[in-house]
Amino acid sequence: MKPREIVPDVLYVGAQDFDRRLFDGLIPLPDGTSYNSYLVRGRNKIALIDSVEPAKVHVLEAYLEDVHRIDYIISNHTEQDHSGSIPWLLTRYPQAIVLASETAKPMLADHLGIDPAQIRTVADGERLDLGGKTLRFIYTPWVHWPETMSTYLEEDRILFSCDWFGSHLAQTDLFVDCVDCIKAEAKRYYAEIMMPFRKIILKNLDKIKDLEIRLTAPSHGPIYRDPQSVIQAYRDWTDDKPHNTVVMPWVSMHGSTAIMVEHLTTALVERRVEVLPFNMATADIGQLAMALVDAATIVVACPTVHVGPHPAVFNGVVLANALRPKARFAAIIGSYGWAGKMVDTIKGAMPNLRVELLPSVIAKGLPKPSDLQDIDALAGVIAAKHKELGLI
Ligand code: FEO
Repeated sequence: MKPREIVPDVLYVGAQDFDRRLFDGLIPLPDGTSYNSYLVRGRNKIALIDSVEPAKVHVLEAYLEDVHRIDYIISNHTEQDHSGSIPWLLTRYPQAIVLASETAKPMLADHLGIDPAQIRTVADGERLDLGGKTLRFIYTPWVHWPETMSTYLEEDRILFSCDWFGSHLAQTDLFVDCVDCIKAEAKRYYAEIMMPFRKIILKNLDKIKDLEIRLTAPSHGPIYRDPQSVIQAYRDWTDDKPHNTVVMPWVSMHGSTAIMVEHLTTALVERRVEVLPFNMATADIGQLAMALVDAATIVVACPTVHVGPHPAVFNGVVLANALRPKARFAAIIGSYGWAGKMVDTIKGAMPNLRVELLPSVIAKGLPKPSDLQDIDALAGVIAAKHKELGLI
């Protein structure tokens, strides 16, 4: 199989994974994904930037059939979907040296059993001249592990950003062909793994702001011919100011919580607040994560199972807590049969959310008129809070 040319002497040797439907045993992949690997040929040396998920090593092997020497294997990121085939590469190219950040070196040894003697660390800003192709290593920590770096090819002005600016999308076209479509895919990707680190991502964005970039070549999804489109999108997503949106993960067992969700949705819409409800019995958690990127308020709408929260909604709370969205306000509504600690359990599960907790509305059994009045009052408080932030 012939490597695919990106620009002269920069070749694509990665793998498309059309059938994968779950990442980390957690993240839905409705459109598959790809593991992009790039070969850079200088006059004197040859470097491979990132490898592929081990399950797809046969694709990498096929692309490299006629490549008889690789001098450097650049590991931008230790997670196995990019580094997992490095041990195989080192058996095929035993003279190759793995280049990685200082933090990555012990991680590559821990996660993949790579002999540290085969790994050379590169410093932030260090250059490597392959002969007419100069690679510059730029530390970009926490996109999304502590050791991550990006590699910039100076002559061709290509930024190899690994997960950063990536998207889970399998397609045969190596380039972005629809900027609006890819923005949704990239947002889903940002939401699922980058969002907890948005403050550090802002610093990384500042770090590359003066870099002249012609192509952004991530290690998932297509390559950007218009790199500023995704860079600007990252600026918007990481910005502190939320949107006039309420995200509402909910489930209803016998209809009580559903009545409250419907009533609150109507009351908020009447107050010009957008609502994104997610029935957690069937929701795609990737879409929930995307909604959390911009929302100003999270309303958890939960019935009580025995004495605790419904596990499907609680799962959404745990996810939101892990993703650390920029939301400013939160509230809990829901119902119970006879007693319970649902509210306290949910509150205790979201210590990472820097939110002002608004009054809870909890109904015993079917919501009564007084409960619905309390829901109206909650809608009023949410709308007022959004107005204070200048969102309405
Ligand atoms: Fe695509 Fe963090 O690995």
